[in-house]
Amino acid sequence: MPPAGVSWQTPLHTLWHKQAHRLKLRRTNSTREKLQMHHIIKQLPRAIIIGVRKGGTRALLEMLSLHPAVVKASQEVHFFDNDQNYARGIDWYREKMPFSFPHQITIEKSPAYFITEEVPERIFKMNSSIKLLVIVREPTTRAVSDYTQVLEGKERKNKTYDKFEELVIDTNTCEVNTKYKAVRTSIYTKYLEHWLKYFPVEQFHVVDGDRLIIDPLPELKLVEHFLNLPSKISHYNLYFNATRGFFCLRYNFIFNKCLAGSKGRIHPDVDPSIKEKLQRFFHPFNQKFYQITGRTFNWP
Ligand code: A3P
Repeated sequence: MPPAGVSWQTPLHTLWHKQAHRLKLRRTNSTREKLQMHHIIKQLPRAIIIGVRKGGTRALLEMLSLHPAVVKASQEVHFFDNDQNYARGIDWYREKMPFSFPHQITIEKSPAYFITEEVPERIFKMNSSIKLLVIVREPTTRAVSDYTQVLEGKERKNKTYDKFEELVIDTNTCEVNTKYKAVRTSIYTKYLEHWLKYFPVEQFHVVDGDRLIIDPLPELKLVEHFLNLPSKISHYNLYFNATRGFFCLRYNFIFNKCLAGSKGRIHPDVDPSIKEKLQRFFHPFNQKFYQITGRTFNWP
């Protein structure tokens, strides 16, 4: 009789594959590895970085993964904001997650979640007590960063693109152009209010993206606390790289890394009067954002 799981019709190459696999397992099966093999699973995220685009979402995810109890989904999954992905179902989503031990928490980041209307309800249906992380920067800076990313994409394709000043001001009214996505995304309160129809404010934690750039550790400590994790990320894990101009990550004495060059682009100079106009425009929305979240920033 053939061994279990193998029929007489099983092609030879499949048998070889199975045999090779069994031999490999036998060779590598120390007690520790056996334990690992039996306890690692793919878990749905218990916390999601929902945005905001260009707020420092990648840096936050990477820095949190320095914590031994945090496991990250490396790619943006875009499950809740993309109808096609969402239709694939929750098992598809879980499959996109990394392996982890049961005591670890899985985190993913997809910044488009913050501004996509369907997302809060969909996440609520998956887990109504999930923890939500929102990382924000001073809204005008964030808008310039957003513009810079799109500009770089156009330049890569040898395409021309309008100047920032031309996009943010409506030429007919000379007012701030709220149809321009980079402006709209920086009206944080507008999107947050929609999320609050599904989740209480206690389930959100606002991260200061400007502070994460210059002094990341205190921000990470606040997140550890919000996630009910013991404080483990330390100064040892973060070092300033003068060449890069940013903090980089040290996992252990062998492995360290900086974020990719696409993070930390040089922004174009913006006409100061336009900058001021934008700051005046965002001001009342910012006040509301502070009031709702209980976190105040020194934004103009
Ligand atoms: P800029 O490119 O405008 O400087 P996101 O990951 O959400 O796209 O955010 C990108 C931003 O993360 C960058 O914006 C950069 O300033 C910021 N950032 C924060 N900490 C960083 C770090 N340690 N290394 C690189 N970029 C970092």
